[in-house]
Amino acid sequence: MKILVTGGCGFIGSNFIHYYLQKYPGDSLINVDKLTYAGNLKNLSALSLSPRYTFIKGDIADPLQMEEIISQGVEGIVNFAAESHVDRSIEAPVDFMRTNVFGTFVLLEALRKVSSKRPIRFLHVSTDEVYGSLGETGAFLEETPMAPNSPYAASKASADLMVRAYHHTYGLPNLITRCSNNYGPYQFPEKLIPLLISNAIEGKTLPIYGDGLNVRDWIHVEDHCRGLDLVLHRGKEGEVYNIGGQSEKTNLSVAKTILDHLGKPHSLLRFVTDRPGHDRRYAIDFSKIQKTLGWAPSISFEDGIRQTIDWYQGQQEWWREIKTGEYLDYYQRMYGNR
Ligand code: NAD
Ligand code: TYD
Repeated sequence: MKILVTGGCGFIGSNFIHYYLQKYPGDSLINVDKLTYAGNLKNLSALSLSPRYTFIKGDIADPLQMEEIISQGVEGIVNFAAESHVDRSIEAPVDFMRTNVFGTFVLLEALRKVSSKRPIRFLHVSTDEVYGSLGETGAFLEETPMAPNSPYAASKASADLMVRAYHHTYGLPNLITRCSNNYGPYQFPEKLIPLLISNAIEGKTLPIYGDGLNVRDWIHVEDHCRGLDLVLHRGKEGEVYNIGGQSEKTNLSVAKTILDHLGKPHSLLRFVTDRPGHDRRYAIDFSKIQKTLGWAPSISFEDGIRQTIDWYQGQQEWWREIKTGEYLDYYQRMYGNR
């Protein structure tokens, strides 16, 4: 089987490519990535000599390029390509509309043309953030109405609706997954966990928004990749699948766990101005994928966070190189000098 991955030079995409090529020795894979600030060829340097892996620098919002690539005998697509950081979507939403909404539309249009001859399964990788925010109890189901609160979440929800409509109207074999917060190797250090780990290693303060009691459900990226693989191969066309880690934590407890593992003092915690519109709590009910495809998370937060801290400790060159240039400007705008 030949599959196309978009956004494969980012965090989840690069983990998925490593996972997929190892699991399916008979398959080949094309990775199309625009190489934005979040795309890093080093995440996949181990594959540079593999005859089963092809990298194309490309933009999912470019209709001619997407049609040409999809016409090259691709049998399945996993769409990771996106602007993915909520804080950047609050500061400058335009790229989120362009890539997440228009880019997904361009892929669907290319598929509509090619699919009349040859149906191609299209797995759109979405997020639990499309459901909005929860109170103290309850969890998101696939039927929970979408109520996105940030420009990022709204752009992902818009794309989900287009993916759904192209299934219903044109019969495209589309699938959607909605996953909770991922962590693990190769995550860009603007996101909470790699930001906190790298700052703690550097002896810098750890910025905590608001009261630190917002809750996220954390899933190790490898568990997410396993779920995506199952949905791509065995999911029912036209369906949505929630994927969750069964690990609800407050941001403050995540930060303290990281400091404790690294033997750093809690005095490094720094409470900063809250994010505008900050969703209070996310939690996922993943019983659908569990019952229908036999998936459940397998890596506990305790094991996963230890492995992840070890990875960031061992791969300092990887993140120290990122934490220069544009990143420093971004950090300064977000957090000031400290
Ligand atoms: P990321 O920001 O680490 O990577 C995104 C990748 O997409 C980068 O390599 C970037 O260069 C590429 N890209 C951006 N615009 C592009 C364009 N126009 N054309 C081609 N490539 C482009 O993101 P991530 O954390 O790996 O997330 C991947 C996907 O998973 C996203 O769609 C995101 O919404 C979704 N998701 C993420 C999480 C999470 O916790 N990180 C959770 C659920 C869902
Ligand atoms: P993030 O990793 O940006 O993921 P998302 O906003 O998509 O859930 O943030 C996770 C949580 O951590 C979220 O509640 C915001 C909070 N947060 C901080 O407290 N400090 C930070 O510096 C960052 C980046 C996030």
